[in-house]
Amino acid sequence: MKFLIAANWKMNPKSAKEAKNLFETVKKRVKKINNAEAVICPPFVYLPLLKGLILGAQNVSCEKEGAFTGDISALQLNDAGVKHAIVGHSERRKYFGETDETINKKIKMCLSAGIKPILCVGETAEENEAGKKSEILEKQITDGLRGIPLQKAKNIIFAYEPVWAIGTGKNCSAEETTGSALLIRKIVSKIYGRKFAGLTRILYGGSVNSKNASQYIKETGVNGLLIGGASLNAKEFVDIIRQVSA
Ligand code: PGA
Repeated sequence: MKFLIAANWKMNPKSAKEAKNLFETVKKRVKKINNAEAVICPPFVYLPLLKGLILGAQNVSCEKEGAFTGDISALQLNDAGVKHAIVGHSERRKYFGETDETINKKIKMCLSAGIKPILCVGETAEENEAGKKSEILEKQITDGLRGIPLQKAKNIIFAYEPVWAIGTGKNCSAEETTGSALLIRKIVSKIYGRKFAGLTRILYGGSVNSKNASQYIKETGVNGLLIGGASLNAKEFVDIIRQVSA
């Protein structure tokens, strides 16, 4: 299984010109690497402008179609050639009030439209300090996957993104990431069985850069990375992919 390295550009860069430059630079350098899969998740407006690497969306509607001003459906994403959608990112949970129930609906929409969701889960600093990590992960995963049959769940990718590590420069230690990935597999195995959990793809995300990336791949048992800030610098992002594939 190839490592999956996903770039979450968030609400960046400021212009289509910059987006195209960043994308083309990454594309040129990444093309030669064959044991890692790069997925670029730009803002929606740039999706039709970028061709030649796998594309992902940063969000998706929980509705199928109709009068939902401002939303973009999983079917529309599929039609635009998008293969993945980030679902349940902590910024969506925090600033846009997304609940596990909405996230569950979004995952179902993705799966029925042929989009592979990247389900982000993770605890806040307070929850971590209070020893509530496993409880939080269990709720986010169980509620997020509710009613999804095993056959469909095979297309879900998980991302362990501790909220305290996102955009803070305080990346999660390899040791703690190993434990969290195991915990996620354990929770998934309670729902779908152990065999399935062993095959589940889990990414780590939170302040990953070219200096700390390789430890996750070598020491933690995760299957890839979800990268925010560092993905906006082509050299840095490509450096990370190179290390993964070294
Ligand atoms: P970061 O963001 O790499 O800037 O910490 C990761 C994410 O939000 O997915």
